[in-house]
Amino acid sequence: MDKQLLRNIAQRLMADDKGLLAMDESVATCNKRFAEAGIPQTEEYRRKYREMIVTTPGLGECISGAILFDETTKQAANDGTPFIDLLVKGGIIPGIKLDEGAKAQPAFPGEKVTEGLDGLRERLKVYVAQGIKFAKWRAVITIADDTPTDGSIYANAHALARYAALCQEAGIVPIVEPEVLMDGSHSIERCFEVTERVLHIVFEVLIQQRIYLEGMILKPNMVVSGLDAAVQADVEQVADATVECLLRCVPAAVPGVAFLSGGQAAQDASAHLNAMHIKYNDKLPWALTFSFARAVQQPAMEYWAGKDENVSVAQQLLYKRASINNAARRGEYTPAIEA
Ligand code: 13P
Repeated sequence: MDKQLLRNIAQRLMADDKGLLAMDESVATCNKRFAEAGIPQTEEYRRKYREMIVTTPGLGECISGAILFDETTKQAANDGTPFIDLLVKGGIIPGIKLDEGAKAQPAFPGEKVTEGLDGLRERLKVYVAQGIKFAKWRAVITIADDTPTDGSIYANAHALARYAALCQEAGIVPIVEPEVLMDGSHSIERCFEVTERVLHIVFEVLIQQRIYLEGMILKPNMVVSGLDAAVQADVEQVADATVECLLRCVPAAVPGVAFLSGGQAAQDASAHLNAMHIKYNDKLPWALTFSFARAVQQPAMEYWAGKDENVSVAQQLLYKRASINNAARRGEYTPAIEA
């Protein structure tokens, strides 16, 4: 394992108040978002949409790395330039989603385990040759009365650790993403309890499987109220609970924590990141940033709506959301910058 290479990539991903852009929606997820926005669900429209993103002027000022889906690594802009080359030219490090989705876990009703380990060493070689420098694997944890169980958390943690080990062997920085979903009517306290349990087990297994902590990034959920909870925690409560939970669970050797947005409104996700930096900036042992998909892309996707004449304004909306999250990382976000 080339530890220095891994440390350097992780540090570049976390540098300069930037964050990551998750643009790695699978075909099914991308089509679902397109259907909601009235956009045709074809390979060509997915290509056009990703071209709009990777050709956004100045995006590399705000975004350090972009996580791609396999289909996108093989696509190119209208002029024939591969998307990966466009990203690198724009100062953005290309990454790849390696998991193959969360599937029903046998014998664990209501719980899922993520697939994609078979043949991963060989797939990694192809991506390394394409210039990919980092990767992502998402585990999905659902809060309900009887879940998550330790049996499911351990199965997911084990898959995350085996993926991370294969990445590090290949010189790729693994992003380890155990997502505790917001779905449900649970309280923020219940989200805290579950997120803490999940992160403890994930790091227990990462350490057992000899993951080089200095050469990985954690992508967690924020600790929030369930989407359908009658009482919704406010910005400060989310910031306090999230930072307390992470400080309890994430070793200081980990260079970076980059949040998913998980279905929060874009403004809420930015306000939460901002509040964490205002209150805790000098108490955090790791860089704390964003790796949002929806909370950066949504306004741009809706404006674009599949129409070429909307590309330029959609790109401005994308740039704006990314730069607002840079401001949040500096603790300089105010609702006024949304205007
Ligand atoms: P959201 O920010 O839309 O939750 O997506 C982040 C992600 O990469 C989920 O795997």
